Amino acid sequence: MEFKDKRVLVTGSARGIGLAIARRFLSEGARVAINGRSSTTVQEVCAELGSAAVPASGDLASAGGCDEVVQAALGGLGGLDILINNAGVFPIGSMEVTDEKIWDETFNANVKSVFFTSRSALAALREARGNIVNHSSIAGLIGLSNVSAYCASKGAVLQLTKAMAMELAPDIRVNCVCPTTVDNDMGWKGFNRADDPQAAHDAFVAASKLQRMPTNHDVVEAFAFLASSRASFMTGVALPVDGGKSAGV
Ligand SMILES: NC(=O)c1ccc[n+]([C@@H]2O[C@H](COP(=O)([O-])OP(=O)(O)OC[C@H]3O[C@@H](n4cnc5c(N)ncnc54)[C@H](OP(=O)(O)O)[C@@H]3O)[C@@H](O)[C@H]2O)c1
Repeated sequence: MEFKDKRVLVTGSARGIGLAIARRFLSEGARVAINGRSSTTVQEVCAELGSAAVPASGDLASAGGCDEVVQAALGGLGGLDILINNAGVFPIGSMEVTDEKIWDETFNANVKSVFFTSRSALAALREARGNIVNHSSIAGLIGLSNVSAYCASKGAVLQLTKAMAMELAPDIRVNCVCPTTVDNDMGWKGFNRADDPQAAHDAFVAASKLQRMPTNHDVVEAFAFLASSRASFMTGVALPVDGGKSAGV
């Protein structure tokens, strides 16, 4: 019960990796605030997860929205020990098709949300001497084609992580996780654009050093470690979960 009685907000946790992270904290004794944009979906997910899950639905694309979500989480949990900034969008397309609307939506969901959710949670996290784990990406570490806005946003999350770690020490540790393409809905979004998605997937796996894609579970492990007391001397870290992809060729 590594996270017994810890109070955790996981953004974007009504599905995908965020839901897997929420389940992990719950299984280790934490109480978790669940977030997603649909209040109905968040209520349904909380009902399925049990009484240790509390709703904190809302859109994180604006500073006001972030504050409302944090206030809902604080109301349901009575404080905050761990903030997981997981919510994000993954638009795919060349620079030519990436217009201002896509750029702004990407930066609002992926970067502004991290800054303003953290900002709203600072007092509670300071009181608890808590920590923050942000969701960056391999796209924050290396350049990738046809996802320029996403790469820029995840690079910003990585640099924001380091800046926050410097400013918030010694009260609050701040780290981030950088996965390569995960074997889930968002990860397959790129493969599904190919004429033969399975062949695109197989080529990706064949080119990877560890000969597979990471699962949600692989990513959850990195979040759980950085959020735990096992990482109590780690802050400002960008932890790749990329099977060696960013290490070299
Ligand atoms: N999957 C991958 O291959 C991969 C690799 C590296 C990093 N990541 C990162 O992992 C994180 C989770 O991705 P995933 O794979 O779990 O994808 P996903 O299934 O599409 O989940 C994305 C989550 O973000 C939430 N979200 C998006 N915009 C939001 C907003 N404005 N306000 C509140 N919530 C918002 C979604 O909420 P709704 O339910 O309301 O839509 C959803 O819960 C993202 O930050 C992503 O960039 C993913």
